[in-house]
Amino acid sequence: MSQDKVIVEKNQGQALLTEQIKGNSKKLYIESYGCAMNLNDSEIVAAILSEQGYNTTHLIEEADLVLVNTCSIREKAEQTVRKRLEKYNAVKKINPRMKVGVLGCMAERLKEKFLEEEKIVDLVVGPDAYRDLPNLLEEVKTGRDAVNVLLSKEETYGDVSPIRLNSNGVSAFVSITRGCDNMCTFCVVPFTRGRERSREPKSILEEIKKLSEQNYKEITLLGQNVDSYLWYGGGLKKDFKNASEIAQTTAISFAELLDMVAVTYPKIRIRFSTSNPQDMNLDVIYTMAKHENICNYIHLPVQSGSTSVLKRMNRQHTRDEYIELIDNIKKIIPDCALSQDMMTGFCGETEEEHQETLSLLEHVKYDFGFMFAYSERPGTPAAKKMEDDIPLAIKKRRLAEIIVVQQKHSLYHLEQFVGKTVEILIEGSSKKSDAHWKGRNSQNAVAVFPKGDEKIGDFVNVYIEECTSATLLGKRI
Ligand code: SAH
Ligand code: F3S
Repeated sequence: MSQDKVIVEKNQGQALLTEQIKGNSKKLYIESYGCAMNLNDSEIVAAILSEQGYNTTHLIEEADLVLVNTCSIREKAEQTVRKRLEKYNAVKKINPRMKVGVLGCMAERLKEKFLEEEKIVDLVVGPDAYRDLPNLLEEVKTGRDAVNVLLSKEETYGDVSPIRLNSNGVSAFVSITRGCDNMCTFCVVPFTRGRERSREPKSILEEIKKLSEQNYKEITLLGQNVDSYLWYGGGLKKDFKNASEIAQTTAISFAELLDMVAVTYPKIRIRFSTSNPQDMNLDVIYTMAKHENICNYIHLPVQSGSTSVLKRMNRQHTRDEYIELIDNIKKIIPDCALSQDMMTGFCGETEEEHQETLSLLEHVKYDFGFMFAYSERPGTPAAKKMEDDIPLAIKKRRLAEIIVVQQKHSLYHLEQFVGKTVEILIEGSSKKSDAHWKGRNSQNAVAVFPKGDEKIGDFVNVYIEECTSATLLGKRI
């Protein structure tokens, strides 16, 4: 099969790079919801199916196979997917040969029930079973519904070279771990994505090599908890009896992996997500400080500023330990940007505990934030053992309060760049104006500036003249 790569699709005026394999005749339409890991998984699925004769399409009406990669993190995410299935139902009326598959966390959570609840669905495939897609599609061809939701202790898809979907050709995701062992009481992820597994460094470096050869300029290393990355030959951590046994092996930690990637690819910008305060250590921060090409930005979810709430959430650190970590980051990398995930209205959250979240926000002054009202997820420890007792109106009021504080801090941080020159990696045209470029600086702040003779993927120095609440505005110097 020849592997010709062409830029084919046009989407909202932007050229999208997708791999169209010559000789492939079937069409796959794939849609992703939820986290970056899901996006990257869809790229892995597209690669597995390209071997089965599928090219991707952006036109659902012409698809032979429609896959939706789903998210279960909050109830609303699941409702969004259900609505999409209604849309697929309408399309099926004009394209009756089209088959529909559900991938990802909802597939894992609902399993066979999906087939009963949503008649349009032909196959249900969990996050560790994508290699089984060719067999499952064979079953579907013979008129049967197909389900594989087995979770694996080994699967990392390390040898699959993802087909970059909707890519700007500049930034790409590279998965380094799968699953999560943490069991935060509110979280469905350990149930839908299984046990934590780290991917072999060699296969990570090989993937980045390919990206670098294809002229990608920025990669984001992905995992539910990148700081707990540990390579010691594969399998689960618990299979190693004790820490000294791990130390005696040539185990590779996240800080070491980061260092290897930064040294091997000095021209590539490196980001990573997500960090977990309980596992992030000073080695990671020193490694960031050592390398110019590791971006000065850490997404460090905390969920609450109250030690008692953190305890109920089974987060393995206190408010003070978190503050100590933040203070260390600021000491070692003074211009490091920080962002948070916060949740309001978790079981039993009192007004005082909420005030502690507000005061943590004031202490840290995050650059960005992702904030949510607690949404009970069936089957989680919180759903089983605690009462979801905070009324929605109070959850929403508290959420609105933390959003106001965060917006104030985000604006404050952007204002600090005004009058300064920052290095921007150009990612594409500004959404609002084709005459402007859009890109981000090391701290992940978005900047927009008038186009000159630069091109997508260039690093340029931009003098920041002013800012809006979310964007830096400037000119190239
Ligand atoms: N380890 C991942 C967590 C993924 S979930 C990471 O750190 O990115 C992303 C965020 O969704 C969490 O940090 C949390 O703030 C939010 N979240 C998770 N479960 C939730 C729930 N049941 N209700 C509301 N928000 C939730
Ligand atoms: Fe969820 Fe906590 Fe893991 S938020 S993904 S159980 S670190």
